[in-house]
Amino acid sequence: MDKKSKYHDLHNLSLDIYNNGDFAQSYASRIEYNAHNALYERPATLSLLSDVNGKTVLDAGCGPGAYSEWLIENGANVTAVDYSDEMIYIASKRLGKRAKIIKANMNSPMLFLKNEEFDMIVSSMVLHYLRDWRLVFNEFNRILKKDGELVFSIHHPFMEFSFHPDGNYHETELVEDEWPAFNVKMEYYRRPLSEVFEILKETDFKFAELLEPKPLEECKELFPDSYETLSRKPWFICFKAIKLQ
Ligand SMILES: C[S@@+](CC[C@H](N)C(=O)[O-])C[C@H]1O[C@@H](n2cnc3c(N)ncnc32)[C@H](O)[C@@H]1O
Repeated sequence: MDKKSKYHDLHNLSLDIYNNGDFAQSYASRIEYNAHNALYERPATLSLLSDVNGKTVLDAGCGPGAYSEWLIENGANVTAVDYSDEMIYIASKRLGKRAKIIKANMNSPMLFLKNEEFDMIVSSMVLHYLRDWRLVFNEFNRILKKDGELVFSIHHPFMEFSFHPDGNYHETELVEDEWPAFNVKMEYYRRPLSEVFEILKETDFKFAELLEPKPLEECKELFPDSYETLSRKPWFICFKAIKLQ
């Protein structure tokens, strides 16, 4: 059992932060141009998707809608979900009627989404807020068409373990990190790499690709310190899997 679970609402982990209007606005503007998202994670995760033109795509944990916007601009029919009122507000303002935007917590079954509704699911930097991956991956399987693509990114477990070396790498653990750029303490789960693959297998996904990204070259000039760190240390990690049945 997680050390802190009796003090925390694990179903809504970190929701108090994502529901803070100031945080949400500042997160939304920062990830448009920053090193870690705009010049490192997003290009890597997007590179795993095949052509999205004409495809039905779920943006699972859409945040302020940067992924949804890219998907729409590239011809996809997008549904976006997020559990934060503030993120839903920002994404709705940004995307208007160009996407179907739904407030929902991915810790619960997403019964408002039909079986085999989607060609693809993208879930960027979201799944580490969820303890129970079996539930959400079974849901991803249910709503994807056969051979549908699941592309997701999370914190690299080696990065998390280097920040929390007193834990047990082989267990899924609740961890807390400072986000100095936003002056918040964020909570999420670090799980061993092997568990990601076990869950994919158990929920009938075939592993397809893994990326340990490096920053884009333009990051070198714009954010030299981040470039140096992200070029050397594992930070985020991206996966692609295919629904088997
Ligand atoms: C780091 S942000 C990433 C946002 C977006 N995917 C991106 O990469 O730009 C994490 C997002 O996950 C959402 N989130 C966290 N836990 C969630 C849950 N249980 N259900 C739905 N959304 C969740 C947060 O509200 C937040 O918008």
